[in-house]
Amino acid sequence: MNDIYNNITAVYGDAPPEEPARQLYFIEKCRSIVEKEEKRLGRKLKKCVCTFGCQMNAHDSEKIEGMLEEMGFADSKSEENADFIIYNTCCVRENAENKVYGNLGMLKHLKKSNPELKIALCGCMMQQESVINTIKEKYSYVDLVFGTHNLYKLPELLFSCLSTGKNTFEILQEHGKIVEDLPSVRHFRYKASVNIMYGCDNFCSYCIVPYVRGRERSRRPEDILNEIKALADDGVLEVCLLGQNVNSYGKGLDCDINFAKLLRMVNDIPKIRRIRFMTSHPKDLSDELIFAMRDCEKVCPHIHLPFQAGNNDILKKMNRKYTKEDYIALTDKLKSHIPEIAITTDIMVGFPGEYDVEDTLDIIRRVRFSGAFTFIYSKRTGTPAAVMENQVEPAVVKKNFNRVLETLNPIIYEINKEKTGKTYKVLAEDYSDHDPGLLTGRLEDNTLIHFKGSGNSIGKITNVKVTDCKTFYVLGEEEV
Ligand code: SAH
Ligand code: SF4
Ligand code: F3S
Repeated sequence: MNDIYNNITAVYGDAPPEEPARQLYFIEKCRSIVEKEEKRLGRKLKKCVCTFGCQMNAHDSEKIEGMLEEMGFADSKSEENADFIIYNTCCVRENAENKVYGNLGMLKHLKKSNPELKIALCGCMMQQESVINTIKEKYSYVDLVFGTHNLYKLPELLFSCLSTGKNTFEILQEHGKIVEDLPSVRHFRYKASVNIMYGCDNFCSYCIVPYVRGRERSRRPEDILNEIKALADDGVLEVCLLGQNVNSYGKGLDCDINFAKLLRMVNDIPKIRRIRFMTSHPKDLSDELIFAMRDCEKVCPHIHLPFQAGNNDILKKMNRKYTKEDYIALTDKLKSHIPEIAITTDIMVGFPGEYDVEDTLDIIRRVRFSGAFTFIYSKRTGTPAAVMENQVEPAVVKKNFNRVLETLNPIIYEINKEKTGKTYKVLAEDYSDHDPGLLTGRLEDNTLIHFKGSGNSIGKITNVKVTDCKTFYVLGEEEV
């Protein structure tokens, strides 16, 4: 059932067949359409890119924005003033999808008042057949739809849409090649995300990601290193290496590489000062990786290590491939080699058959997490868990979810409180959104800090004394 939703009929004879040259060609073609429109309207055309998903989704939005900027679109802060709106969607939980449908409903009114507005949808949600059918039936005013496997083709697809004026749908069922060297922008000046791999092969039984992001594939190390060197030359001090399961990086490549080796290579790039990565799966966290984290002075002492649930039967049904005891032993090992390490996690409550969360609470108490993303299990059609018996009633899930938060939050607060009075190295990123009198940044262990300091320190790593703490951030003062 390959490419069943492909309704692209245009054939562009003079477009180069190879990538990225082909997309760069279509960027130019789009640019001439944009310029013509600008002349006609006497103003710039504006784009609005909205991100609904995870860090990887946000990084894809940086690529989308980069390509649109090259075409000549200016930025619109809000959807109301935009000429082109694109939603980069997520489907990991039902509420992420509902949000997209809710917003799309509102766009209908915008389109009525401005029929020339173009609306596009892309991202994980679009890889589901049922979603495409719903869009065709109920949201026929959407102009352009593509998925995760052909994001790089945005210029070609948009050109088809703009030049023919027809709705354009292209969803590929399989991933193709990894296309390098297309334009991208950065949401932050001094830190940047870098994909090291795409897709996921783990098939946790509740999770839709492997179905919508395709099989796991790694980028070549030289492409990753060249990208990071270019970022460093452009002033980036901190990189975050991204993948659904970075610990299995390198599998399938024809060179002698794994994630631990990659970390050591990134550590050798002179102008990079901090290295982060996410996400790690406990089943593949090797001693070699722990030693690389310990040895590389730029690798931050922080690991995001989702455990999801504590009960061994549930973990087995989730297909997570470790036990509660394995997870605790692994975090003990991390702490013994890297004593200052901060461990954060993802926790899910209400998986089929999970009537109580005693083992989950036990892990929380024993590991003492510095932070956690907590989720209520959401049934995803097409995953094995969706058809499991013993789906838990919402009232029980809610009660268990509250118990998780009541156990977790005081520990996070205590860990932050222990920082009060001590001085830490902080990468000052910008003025704080909430209080422009303060700067904002992160400690090495990823704790968020808002602090009094000099604007001259933005873009530098500076010493900050923690003066007060909250559950989700700390406050401080720069030391001069
Ligand atoms: N690859 C990462 C996680 C990606 S999804 C990893 O394995 O760690 C991010 C988080 O969303 C997961 O860790 C999980 O806690 C949550 N999640 C995934 N599927 C979910 C579902 N069906 N319902 C609720 N939460 C889910
Ligand atoms: Fe989903 Fe599991 Fe893959 Fe993470 S490792 S993306 S939870 S299937
Ligand atoms: Fe990320 Fe959501 Fe896709 S979590 S990988 S954007 S389904």
